[in-house]
Amino acid sequence: MNRSFSIPQPLEESIAAALAQYKLTLNDSKVLAKHVLALSDFFISKPDGQTPWNETFAQVAYLVYYLPLNSARLRAVITEGAKRGFFDGLEEVIDFGAGLATASLTLAENQNFNYSLIERSSEPQKLIENFFPNFKAKQWSRAYGKEHSANPKKTLALFSYSLTELTDLPEWAYQCEAIMIAEPSTQQDGRKLLQLRQKLIDKGYYAWAPCTHQSACPLLTQSKHDWCHDRIHFEAPVWFQKMEEQLPMKNRTLTTSYLLMRKTKPAEIKAARIVGDPLKEKGKDRQMVCEGPEREFLAWMHKTGLQQEIPRGVLVKLPADLKKVANELRVQSPVEIYE
Ligand SMILES: C[S@@+](CC[C@H](N)C(=O)[O-])C[C@H]1O[C@@H](n2cnc3c(N)ncnc32)[C@H](O)[C@@H]1O
Repeated sequence: MNRSFSIPQPLEESIAAALAQYKLTLNDSKVLAKHVLALSDFFISKPDGQTPWNETFAQVAYLVYYLPLNSARLRAVITEGAKRGFFDGLEEVIDFGAGLATASLTLAENQNFNYSLIERSSEPQKLIENFFPNFKAKQWSRAYGKEHSANPKKTLALFSYSLTELTDLPEWAYQCEAIMIAEPSTQQDGRKLLQLRQKLIDKGYYAWAPCTHQSACPLLTQSKHDWCHDRIHFEAPVWFQKMEEQLPMKNRTLTTSYLLMRKTKPAEIKAARIVGDPLKEKGKDRQMVCEGPEREFLAWMHKTGLQQEIPRGVLVKLPADLKKVANELRVQSPVEIYE
Protein backbone atom coordinates (compact mmCIF):
# COMPACT_ATOMS: atom_id res chain seq x y z
CA MET A 1 0.00 0.00 0.00
CA ASN A 2 1.70 3.16 -1.25
CA ARG A 3 1.65 6.17 1.08
CA SER A 4 4.58 7.95 -0.56
CA PHE A 5 4.35 11.50 -1.83
CA SER A 6 6.81 13.53 -3.89
CA ILE A 7 6.94 17.05 -5.36
CA PRO A 8 4.92 17.26 -8.60
CA GLN A 9 6.91 18.66 -11.52
CA PRO A 10 4.80 21.84 -12.06
CA LEU A 11 5.27 22.75 -8.39
CA GLU A 12 9.01 22.17 -8.62
CA GLU A 13 9.19 24.34 -11.76
CA SER A 14 7.37 27.18 -10.02
CA ILE A 15 9.66 26.97 -7.00
CA ALA A 16 12.71 27.13 -9.28
CA ALA A 17 11.28 30.13 -11.16
CA ALA A 18 10.56 31.99 -7.93
CA LEU A 19 14.07 31.30 -6.60
CA ALA A 20 15.61 33.02 -9.61
CA GLN A 21 14.49 36.42 -8.28
CA TYR A 22 16.85 35.88 -5.32
CA LYS A 23 19.57 34.82 -7.79
CA LEU A 24 19.34 31.26 -6.46
CA THR A 25 18.78 27.84 -8.02
CA LEU A 26 17.58 24.55 -6.53
CA ASN A 27 21.22 23.41 -6.55
CA ASP A 28 22.46 26.14 -4.17
CA SER A 29 22.12 23.63 -1.33
CA LYS A 30 24.23 25.48 1.23
CA VAL A 31 22.53 28.85 0.85
CA LEU A 32 19.05 27.29 0.72
CA ALA A 33 19.80 25.31 3.90
CA LYS A 34 21.03 28.49 5.64
CA HIS A 35 17.67 30.18 4.93
CA VAL A 36 15.73 27.09 6.05
CA LEU A 37 17.66 26.98 9.31
CA ALA A 38 17.00 30.67 9.94
CA LEU A 39 13.21 30.18 9.61
CA SER A 40 13.28 26.92 11.56
CA ASP A 41 15.17 28.68 14.40
CA PHE A 42 12.61 31.48 14.26
CA PHE A 43 9.69 29.00 14.64
CA ILE A 44 11.50 27.16 17.47
CA SER A 45 12.21 30.36 19.40
CA LYS A 46 8.69 31.74 18.74
CA PRO A 47 6.35 28.74 18.34
CA ASP A 48 3.28 31.03 18.28
CA GLY A 49 5.03 33.77 16.26
CA GLN A 50 3.86 35.14 12.90
CA THR A 51 5.79 33.95 9.84
CA PRO A 52 8.19 36.87 9.05
CA TRP A 53 7.24 37.08 5.37
CA ASN A 54 9.08 40.40 4.87
CA GLU A 55 12.41 38.58 5.37
CA THR A 56 14.14 36.99 2.36
CA PHE A 57 15.14 33.99 4.50
CA ALA A 58 11.46 33.29 5.27
CA GLN A 59 10.41 33.51 1.61
CA VAL A 60 13.20 31.23 0.40
CA ALA A 61 12.74 28.75 3.25
CA TYR A 62 9.01 28.54 2.60
CA LEU A 63 9.53 28.01 -1.14
CA VAL A 64 12.13 25.23 -0.93
CA TYR A 65 11.22 23.52 2.34
CA TYR A 66 7.88 24.24 4.03
CA LEU A 67 5.85 24.48 0.79
CA PRO A 68 6.96 21.08 -0.62
CA LEU A 69 6.78 19.32 2.75
CA ASN A 70 3.41 20.75 3.78
CA SER A 71 2.06 20.11 0.31
CA ALA A 72 3.06 16.41 0.55
CA ARG A 73 1.39 16.15 3.97
CA LEU A 74 -1.75 17.83 2.63
CA ARG A 75 -1.85 15.57 -0.43
CA ALA A 76 -2.11 12.64 1.98
CA VAL A 77 -4.90 14.32 3.96
CA ILE A 78 -6.78 15.24 0.78
CA THR A 79 -6.44 11.67 -0.52
CA GLU A 80 -7.98 10.30 2.70
CA GLY A 81 -10.81 12.85 2.51
CA ALA A 82 -11.51 12.28 -1.18
CA LYS A 83 -11.83 8.51 -0.62
CA ARG A 84 -14.79 9.20 1.66
CA GLY A 85 -16.33 11.89 -0.59
CA PHE A 86 -15.43 14.66 1.84
CA PHE A 87 -15.14 17.32 -0.89
CA ASP A 88 -18.36 16.37 -2.73
CA GLY A 89 -20.87 19.19 -3.22
CA LEU A 90 -18.50 21.94 -2.07
CA GLU A 91 -17.86 24.97 -4.31
CA GLU A 92 -15.99 27.61 -2.30
CA VAL A 93 -12.80 27.38 -0.28
CA ILE A 94 -11.66 29.97 2.24
CA ASP A 95 -7.99 29.29 2.94
CA PHE A 96 -7.17 31.11 6.17
CA GLY A 97 -3.54 32.04 6.84
CA ALA A 98 -2.88 30.84 3.31
CA GLY A 99 0.81 31.73 3.22
CA LEU A 100 2.12 30.55 -0.14
CA ALA A 101 -1.37 29.10 -0.86
CA THR A 102 0.08 25.70 0.09
CA ALA A 103 -3.25 24.03 0.84
CA SER A 104 -5.21 25.64 -1.99
CA LEU A 105 -2.48 24.87 -4.53
CA THR A 106 -2.49 21.24 -3.42
CA LEU A 107 -6.28 20.90 -3.34
CA ALA A 108 -6.50 22.56 -6.78
CA GLU A 109 -4.40 19.72 -8.25
CA ASN A 110 -7.63 17.67 -8.20
CA GLN A 111 -10.52 19.87 -7.04
CA ASN A 112 -11.91 22.68 -9.14
CA PHE A 113 -13.18 25.09 -6.48
CA ASN A 114 -13.29 28.90 -6.13
CA TYR A 115 -10.35 29.67 -3.88
CA SER A 116 -10.39 32.73 -1.61
CA LEU A 117 -7.18 33.23 0.31
CA ILE A 118 -6.81 35.20 3.51
CA GLU A 119 -3.25 36.16 4.31
CA ARG A 120 -2.17 39.13 6.39
CA SER A 121 1.17 39.52 4.60
CA SER A 122 1.38 40.66 0.98
CA GLU A 123 4.62 38.90 -0.03
CA PRO A 124 3.12 35.39 -0.55
CA GLN A 125 0.44 36.73 -2.89
CA LYS A 126 3.09 38.35 -5.09
CA LEU A 127 5.10 35.13 -5.24
CA ILE A 128 2.07 33.01 -6.14
CA GLU A 129 0.74 35.43 -8.75
CA ASN A 130 4.15 35.82 -10.41
CA PHE A 131 5.50 32.27 -10.38
CA PHE A 132 2.65 29.73 -9.98
CA PRO A 133 0.70 30.07 -13.24
CA ASN A 134 -1.19 26.79 -12.71
CA PHE A 135 -3.06 28.21 -9.74
CA LYS A 136 -5.74 30.88 -10.10
CA ALA A 137 -7.30 32.32 -6.94
CA LYS A 138 -10.73 33.99 -6.99
CA GLN A 139 -9.44 36.57 -4.50
CA TRP A 140 -6.78 37.37 -1.92
CA SER A 141 -7.66 39.38 1.19
CA ARG A 142 -5.73 40.54 4.23
CA ALA A 143 -8.61 39.65 6.62
CA TYR A 144 -11.95 37.88 6.56
CA GLY A 145 -14.70 40.16 5.24
CA LYS A 146 -18.33 40.20 4.10
CA GLU A 147 -17.40 39.08 0.59
CA HIS A 148 -16.45 35.65 1.96
CA SER A 149 -19.76 34.75 3.61
CA ALA A 150 -21.96 34.48 0.50
CA ASN A 151 -22.46 30.73 0.46
CA PRO A 152 -21.44 29.02 3.73
CA LYS A 153 -23.46 25.86 2.89
CA LYS A 154 -21.10 25.13 -0.01
CA THR A 155 -17.92 26.40 1.67
CA LEU A 156 -14.87 24.64 3.01
CA ALA A 157 -13.00 26.55 5.73
CA LEU A 158 -9.37 25.56 5.32
CA PHE A 159 -6.70 25.96 8.01
CA SER A 160 -3.29 24.66 7.02
CA TYR A 161 -0.72 25.23 9.74
CA SER A 162 -2.55 28.46 10.60
CA LEU A 163 -4.65 27.37 13.60
CA THR A 164 -1.36 27.08 15.45
CA GLU A 165 -1.12 30.90 15.19
CA LEU A 166 -4.67 31.36 16.64
CA THR A 167 -6.32 30.55 19.97
CA ASP A 168 -9.55 29.17 18.41
CA LEU A 169 -11.23 28.87 15.03
CA PRO A 170 -12.63 32.25 13.99
CA GLU A 171 -16.43 32.56 14.40
CA TRP A 172 -17.16 32.56 10.64
CA ALA A 173 -15.63 29.08 10.26
CA TYR A 174 -18.41 27.61 12.43
CA GLN A 175 -20.94 28.74 9.77
CA CYS A 176 -19.21 26.76 7.02
CA GLU A 177 -20.44 23.36 5.84
CA ALA A 178 -16.95 21.82 5.93
CA ILE A 179 -13.77 22.40 7.90
CA MET A 180 -10.34 21.01 7.07
CA ILE A 181 -7.48 21.55 9.49
CA ALA A 182 -3.85 20.40 9.31
CA GLU A 183 -1.53 21.17 12.18
CA PRO A 184 2.05 20.41 13.22
CA SER A 185 2.00 16.99 14.88
CA THR A 186 3.30 18.27 18.19
CA GLN A 187 1.72 17.10 21.41
CA GLN A 188 0.44 20.61 22.18
CA ASP A 189 -1.13 21.34 18.77
CA GLY A 190 -2.30 17.72 18.36
CA ARG A 191 -4.17 17.65 21.67
CA LYS A 192 -5.67 21.10 20.99
CA LEU A 193 -7.06 19.59 17.78
CA LEU A 194 -8.65 16.67 19.68
CA GLN A 195 -10.41 19.20 21.94
CA LEU A 196 -11.54 21.18 18.92
CA ARG A 197 -12.96 17.98 17.37
CA GLN A 198 -15.20 17.52 20.41
CA LYS A 199 -16.24 21.18 20.33
CA LEU A 200 -17.21 20.85 16.67
CA ILE A 201 -19.18 17.66 17.34
CA ASP A 202 -21.01 19.47 20.17
CA LYS A 203 -21.87 22.21 17.65
CA GLY A 204 -23.42 19.65 15.26
CA TYR A 205 -20.47 18.73 13.00
CA TYR A 206 -19.52 15.16 12.06
CA ALA A 207 -15.96 13.84 11.91
CA TRP A 208 -15.15 12.40 8.44
CA ALA A 209 -11.44 11.71 8.91
CA PRO A 210 -9.22 10.58 10.46
CA CYS A 211 -12.04 9.39 12.75
CA THR A 212 -14.42 6.68 11.57
CA HIS A 213 -16.85 7.40 14.44
CA GLN A 214 -18.48 10.29 16.31
CA SER A 215 -17.78 9.02 19.86
CA ALA A 216 -15.38 10.73 22.24
CA CYS A 217 -11.77 10.54 21.07
CA PRO A 218 -10.01 7.82 23.11
CA LEU A 219 -6.65 9.56 22.79
CA LEU A 220 -8.15 12.60 24.50
CA THR A 221 -10.29 10.88 27.15
CA GLN A 222 -8.13 7.84 27.97
CA SER A 223 -4.65 9.33 27.78
CA LYS A 224 -3.08 12.55 29.02
CA HIS A 225 -0.22 12.40 26.51
CA ASP A 226 -1.34 10.90 23.19
CA TRP A 227 -2.26 12.89 20.14
CA CYS A 228 -3.56 11.63 16.82
CA HIS A 229 -1.18 11.96 13.87
CA ASP A 230 -0.58 10.49 10.47
CA ARG A 231 2.73 9.47 8.89
CA ILE A 232 3.65 9.37 5.20
CA HIS A 233 6.82 8.77 3.21
CA PHE A 234 8.38 11.70 1.36
CA GLU A 235 10.23 10.94 -1.86
CA ALA A 236 12.61 13.88 -1.92
CA PRO A 237 14.19 14.90 -5.25
CA VAL A 238 18.00 15.01 -5.37
CA TRP A 239 18.20 18.82 -4.85
CA PHE A 240 16.10 18.49 -1.71
CA GLN A 241 18.26 15.65 -0.39
CA LYS A 242 21.43 17.71 -1.00
CA MET A 243 19.92 20.67 0.88
CA GLU A 244 18.82 18.36 3.67
CA GLU A 245 22.39 17.06 4.08
CA GLN A 246 23.20 20.54 5.43
CA LEU A 247 20.32 20.46 7.91
CA PRO A 248 19.98 18.76 11.30
CA MET A 249 16.40 17.64 10.51
CA LYS A 250 15.64 14.75 8.13
CA ASN A 251 12.35 14.21 6.37
CA ARG A 252 12.12 10.67 4.95
CA THR A 253 8.81 10.35 6.76
CA LEU A 254 6.50 13.25 7.55
CA THR A 255 3.86 13.47 10.23
CA THR A 256 0.78 15.63 10.47
CA SER A 257 -2.27 15.99 12.67
CA TYR A 258 -5.46 16.67 10.76
CA LEU A 259 -9.20 16.86 11.03
CA LEU A 260 -11.93 16.81 8.37
CA MET A 261 -15.38 17.77 9.66
CA ARG A 262 -18.70 18.52 7.94
CA LYS A 263 -22.22 19.47 9.00
CA THR A 264 -23.42 16.64 6.73
CA LYS A 265 -23.21 13.13 8.17
CA PRO A 266 -20.69 10.82 6.45
CA ALA A 267 -21.77 7.44 5.07
CA GLU A 268 -21.10 4.82 7.73
CA ILE A 269 -18.20 2.50 7.05
CA LYS A 270 -17.15 -0.71 8.71
CA ALA A 271 -13.53 0.28 9.14
CA ALA A 272 -11.01 1.31 11.76
CA ARG A 273 -7.99 3.57 11.39
CA ILE A 274 -4.44 2.58 12.26
CA VAL A 275 -3.24 5.45 14.48
CA GLY A 276 0.10 4.08 15.66
CA ASP A 277 3.44 2.91 14.31
CA PRO A 278 4.33 -0.79 14.75
CA LEU A 279 5.56 -1.54 18.30
CA LYS A 280 7.86 -4.55 18.66
CA GLU A 281 7.43 -6.12 22.09
CA LYS A 282 8.32 -9.35 23.84
CA GLY A 283 6.04 -12.06 22.43
CA LYS A 284 3.96 -9.73 20.28
CA ASP A 285 3.80 -6.78 17.87
CA ARG A 286 1.18 -4.08 18.43
CA GLN A 287 -0.30 -1.12 16.58
CA MET A 288 -2.78 1.37 17.97
CA VAL A 289 -6.10 1.31 16.15
CA CYS A 290 -9.16 3.55 16.42
CA GLU A 291 -12.78 2.54 15.78
CA GLY A 292 -14.64 4.12 18.71
CA PRO A 293 -14.25 5.53 22.21
CA GLU A 294 -11.82 2.80 23.43
CA ARG A 295 -8.04 3.22 23.26
CA GLU A 296 -7.10 -0.12 21.67
CA PHE A 297 -4.19 -1.95 20.04
CA LEU A 298 -4.20 -4.63 17.40
CA ALA A 299 -1.86 -7.33 18.71
CA TRP A 300 -0.12 -10.02 16.69
CA MET A 301 1.07 -12.68 19.16
CA HIS A 302 4.31 -14.21 17.88
CA LYS A 303 3.14 -17.70 18.78
CA THR A 304 0.33 -17.50 16.18
CA GLY A 305 2.94 -17.03 13.42
CA LEU A 306 0.96 -14.04 12.10
CA GLN A 307 2.95 -10.91 11.38
CA GLN A 308 1.83 -7.65 9.75
CA GLU A 309 3.05 -4.06 9.57
CA ILE A 310 0.28 -1.73 8.48
CA PRO A 311 1.07 1.83 7.34
CA ARG A 312 0.04 4.33 9.99
CA GLY A 313 -3.00 6.35 8.91
CA VAL A 314 -4.75 3.80 6.69
CA LEU A 315 -8.22 2.34 7.17
CA VAL A 316 -8.50 -1.39 7.85
CA LYS A 317 -11.29 -3.97 8.05
CA LEU A 318 -11.24 -5.54 11.49
CA PRO A 319 -11.61 -9.34 11.25
CA ALA A 320 -14.64 -10.78 13.04
CA ASP A 321 -12.53 -13.26 15.03
CA LEU A 322 -10.40 -10.72 16.98
CA LYS A 323 -9.91 -11.79 20.61
CA LYS A 324 -10.25 -8.88 23.06
CA VAL A 325 -7.89 -9.05 26.05
CA ALA A 326 -7.82 -5.81 28.11
CA ASN A 327 -6.96 -3.06 25.57
CA GLU A 328 -5.69 -5.55 22.97
CA LEU A 329 -7.54 -6.88 19.95
CA ARG A 330 -5.57 -10.07 19.33
CA VAL A 331 -5.37 -10.96 15.66
CA GLN A 332 -6.32 -14.52 14.62
CA SER A 333 -6.56 -13.92 10.87
CA PRO A 334 -4.91 -11.23 8.69
CA VAL A 335 -6.17 -7.67 8.93
CA GLU A 336 -7.12 -6.34 5.48
CA ILE A 337 -6.64 -2.78 4.23
CA TYR A 338 -9.97 -1.00 3.58
CA GLU A 339 -9.88 0.82 0.23
C1 LIG B 1 2.62 28.75 9.38
S1 LIG B 1 1.96 29.71 8.11
C2 LIG B 1 1.06 28.52 7.17
C3 LIG B 1 0.99 28.88 5.72
C4 LIG B 1 0.26 27.90 4.82
N1 LIG B 1 -1.14 27.83 5.14
C5 LIG B 1 0.89 26.52 4.81
O1 LIG B 1 0.19 25.54 5.06
O2 LIG B 1 2.06 26.37 4.49
C6 LIG B 1 0.66 30.58 8.88
C7 LIG B 1 0.16 31.78 8.04
O3 LIG B 1 -0.98 32.38 8.66
C8 LIG B 1 -0.91 33.79 8.45
N2 LIG B 1 -1.79 34.38 9.47
C9 LIG B 1 -1.72 34.22 10.81
N3 LIG B 1 -2.69 34.90 11.43
C10 LIG B 1 -3.41 35.51 10.47
C11 LIG B 1 -4.55 36.38 10.47
N4 LIG B 1 -5.13 36.74 11.62
N5 LIG B 1 -5.03 36.79 9.30
C12 LIG B 1 -4.46 36.43 8.13
N6 LIG B 1 -3.36 35.62 8.06
C13 LIG B 1 -2.84 35.18 9.21
C14 LIG B 1 0.57 34.10 8.61
O4 LIG B 1 0.95 35.31 7.99
C15 LIG B 1 1.20 32.88 7.92
O5 LIG B 1 1.44 33.11 6.55
